[in-house]
Amino acid sequence: MSGKVSGVKGMNDLLPPDSSVWQHVEQTVRELFARFGYQEVRTPVVEDTALFVRSVGEATDIVGKEMYTFEDKGGRSLSLRPEGTAPAARAYIEHAVANQEPVTRWFYMGPMFRYERMKTGRYRQFHQIGAEAYGASEAAQDVELMDMVVQLLEALELKDISLNLNSLGDETCRPAYQEQLVAYLQAHRDELCADCQARLERNPLRVLDCKNERCQAVVAASPDIQTFLCEPCRAHFDEVKRKLDLLGIHYVVNPRMVRGLDYYTRTAFEFIASHPALGTASTVGGGGRYDRLVKQLGGPDVPAVGVALGLERLCLLLASEAGRYAAPPDLFVAFADAAAAEQGFVLVSRLRKAGLRVEFDPRGGSLKSQMKRADRTHARYALVLGENELASGKGQLKPMQGGEPIPVALDEVAAALVTR
Ligand code: HAM
Repeated sequence: MSGKVSGVKGMNDLLPPDSSVWQHVEQTVRELFARFGYQEVRTPVVEDTALFVRSVGEATDIVGKEMYTFEDKGGRSLSLRPEGTAPAARAYIEHAVANQEPVTRWFYMGPMFRYERMKTGRYRQFHQIGAEAYGASEAAQDVELMDMVVQLLEALELKDISLNLNSLGDETCRPAYQEQLVAYLQAHRDELCADCQARLERNPLRVLDCKNERCQAVVAASPDIQTFLCEPCRAHFDEVKRKLDLLGIHYVVNPRMVRGLDYYTRTAFEFIASHPALGTASTVGGGGRYDRLVKQLGGPDVPAVGVALGLERLCLLLASEAGRYAAPPDLFVAFADAAAAEQGFVLVSRLRKAGLRVEFDPRGGSLKSQMKRADRTHARYALVLGENELASGKGQLKPMQGGEPIPVALDEVAAALVTR
């Protein structure tokens, strides 16, 4: 067979200069999350399929329709991770982290996989920035995470992103709500799409996040979960709102926002952008509390809350800034002849060792073509090495944005550049 092999649909290559935007976001995350005491965890991209079935939920679209599941050569059913919360919880349990410290704060960045219909901002391999906090059931923990996201969005200078907030109750109060919801949806069964008619039997809460317009119209008048909350859930939700107010974080309570995963209890939230670059994929991040999950996966009874943001979506919002984050070379060295190329090669290596960003054209060629190359790299300065420079040990730093050349001794180039 011959011919071109293409990349997999929905899985993207990331090339410069876009990669510099990603690096900027990743670096901002690392700096900011460290200030909040979150440490990095890395788990494999493949997990036992049962992990996601038992956490995200069998009746969710993510597990039911979108997972990349395969059998390995030993006959085990494995899946590419569609999200990061369940793998992190698995690792938390497996390494008995709860025995080592009462409160654990982790973050991760990495690829996730969902077989979704593709559009702008929706891919089959995408990347999440996630944070999970184990051990505290207090509202302060929920709000700390939301504050961390708000500060991240501010650090990235992203505006017009609103925080939607809800409480999903718990095993005490959700059943009564669910019963009313089912009764209501049954009465409107004929107006629901075929998928939602099936969801009605298997997992009625999922009807609330159906994207079909007719289903949304039915959902808009459905019972309000807020009116069903039991006293402890109500108190927790009130405290979350009070603490958000305390920090001056704006939010909108949206009683029909239930998230697409089954493990949540109490707080659920989403950050939604109004920017046209995202089309219908306007949710840049979401999360919530999942106080039962760790125990449900065979671990100790430890409460937890977390959030994940879509890296592609954040970067789409920053796309117009590509180039702003690329770091150009400090210096481009051009060689007039073979002798200069020989000595210049050593000089370039030394300058890099001294901490400077330096480039040259390994193909050599005419000075004119090398200077053209220097231009394209957006180097701040150029240095031409020829017979005269080698003989005198002196050269000239040419500012590439214009201006007078600066005389410099060849063994002081590094110092001269650092002071500029
Ligand atoms: P999620 O809402 O499924 O939550 O995903 C979080 C974010 O990942 C979304 O808001 C979106 O920005 C991004 N995302 C999801 N699917 C795609 C896709 N196909 N293409 C591009 N971006 C996508 C979770 O995954 C939970 N684990 C969040 C969490 C953490 N809850 C508690 N802790």
